[in-house]
Amino acid sequence: MQSKFLAVGGQKFTIRPLLEEDLPALEWDGEYLHFRLLYRGHYQNSKWGNTRIWVAEAEDGEIVGQVFLMLLSRNEETADGVNRAYIFSFRVKEKVRNIGLGGFMMDFVEDWARELGFTHLRLNVERVNLDARRFYERHGFVVYGSDPGVWEFRDHEGVWHQRVEPAWKMIKTIQK
Ligand SMILES: CC(C)(COP(=O)(O)OP(=O)(O)OC[C@H]1O[C@@H](n2cnc3c(N)ncnc32)[C@H](O)[C@@H]1OP(=O)(O)O)[C@@H](O)C(=O)NCCC(=O)NCCS
Repeated sequence: MQSKFLAVGGQKFTIRPLLEEDLPALEWDGEYLHFRLLYRGHYQNSKWGNTRIWVAEAEDGEIVGQVFLMLLSRNEETADGVNRAYIFSFRVKEKVRNIGLGGFMMDFVEDWARELGFTHLRLNVERVNLDARRFYERHGFVVYGSDPGVWEFRDHEGVWHQRVEPAWKMIKTIQK
């Protein structure tokens, strides 16, 4: 499933599933190199269907946005495979922010999840990320709790890192 977004300024974007050959583009010229293994792992999960990943592709083929949706998690408060799905790793490149692309991607994911019968969308937003929180609130999400935000990942060289990113837990009801 894919969709087209036409910005007011005339720029066109295609929202489509991530392909394996897109994985290097998610590193954003090195800024997210450390997430290489993480993204590959999520890509593998997307092949089994537990996670869905979409990218926004500009007319010249550049990947300028991404959104991940976990359908089933070990933690059912996050995603239970039936009612709750979890949005994460949602990003739009700075040069194309504030033209409605992120909002369009959010609507796209919401429609997709609703179509599958999910009733709630969940996400975590870092407490320091006030802009993103406002964006999500505009899109109908409400804060219902807090999360200490302790998590680990293995970087592209196999080194483990621990991050502490205190976050708000947000939720939105999407049933018809
Ligand atoms: C959060 C994020 C994905 C939003 O993407 P975006 O493409 O800028 O989103 P939109 O353009 O739809 O909306 C952004 C703002 O532009 C405004 N906007 C929307 N459509 C617009 C348009 N056609 N013209 C001008 N402004 C517009 C919205 O009012 C919105 O304002 P708000 O932030 O006060 O709610 C993006 O800012 C981002 O990647 N941030 C960095 C990564 C991040 O924090 N991700 C979230 C992690 S939890």
